[in-house]
Amino acid sequence: MEECKRNLVDEEAKASLDIWRYVFGFADIAAAKCAIDLKIPEAIENHPSSQPMTLAELSSTVSASPSHLRRIMRFLVHQGIFKEVPIKDGLTTGYTNTPLSRRMMITKRDGKSLAPFVLFETSHEMLAPWLRLSSVVSSPVNGSHPPPFDAVHNKDVWALAEDNPCFSEMINEAMACDTRRVVPRVARACHDLFDGVATVVDVGGGNGEAVGILVKEFPWIKGFNFDLPHVIDVAQVLDGVENVGGDMFDSIPKRLRCGAVSSVRYYQFTNNRAQANNVRR
Ligand SMILES: C[S@@+](CC[C@H](N)C(=O)[O-])C[C@H]1O[C@@H](n2cnc3c(N)ncnc32)[C@H](O)[C@@H]1O
Repeated sequence: MEECKRNLVDEEAKASLDIWRYVFGFADIAAAKCAIDLKIPEAIENHPSSQPMTLAELSSTVSASPSHLRRIMRFLVHQGIFKEVPIKDGLTTGYTNTPLSRRMMITKRDGKSLAPFVLFETSHEMLAPWLRLSSVVSSPVNGSHPPPFDAVHNKDVWALAEDNPCFSEMINEAMACDTRRVVPRVARACHDLFDGVATVVDVGGGNGEAVGILVKEFPWIKGFNFDLPHVIDVAQVLDGVENVGGDMFDSIPKRLRCGAVSSVRYYQFTNNRAQANNVRR
């Protein structure tokens, strides 16, 4: 009985703390986004002296108010994103990067940084639907109800991207940074798979990052990057890769149909598995 009472008291005490995670939980991603937007990891990385960067140096480099920045940095240090360490004179402290903050460098295209993905997922276009989850969950059983994204924006993610080039660029950059992380590993691990493959068609290939990496690794392959026209209009121009615009649900040009098809991550976004499966066939 005593132990039962103690457990209840412990649970009560824990809950009185945990509830604050839900009150201020958004601050984690807001502060990380702030660091990425201000390019704080880059400022620290490029600091000319080998010393940690002081608040005064950092605020002048990123043009931020020192008092605001101090509070943001205190939070980010607490989160383990940056480190605050004593400086040689022992009187002041300065900031250094960590492996985590280096993954928040928006200017790095090194296969580690996921900064563009953070910016995409924290965009108001992407966050708004999450805040409408309850309206979808409470829709009548079997009642047709658009997915939260479509309900908030009155169109699906690709149609919104077509109307909004900044959002479209955010998607393409987010996908590309993850592609740089994953595809080189796939290529290394599955080297034999590409022996004798003459053509690869990336259906829904975004800005062409994935097929670009494959063609570089396997130079005998001819790559096609197939995506919606508004994506292809701004896709990278890469050696060995031909960009082709179109809608995969209408048709995929005949000359592309002979290639090995790679459609990375379409499932992540589409609500219509039957549609996606049709394309795969
Ligand atoms: C999740 S992204 C994947 C991008 C890329 N394959 C990658 O993994 O980095 C899905 C891609 O499918 C494209 N897409 C969506 N609907 C499409 C359609 N009907 N026809 C062609 N491409 C489409 C989008 O524009 C987007 O670039």
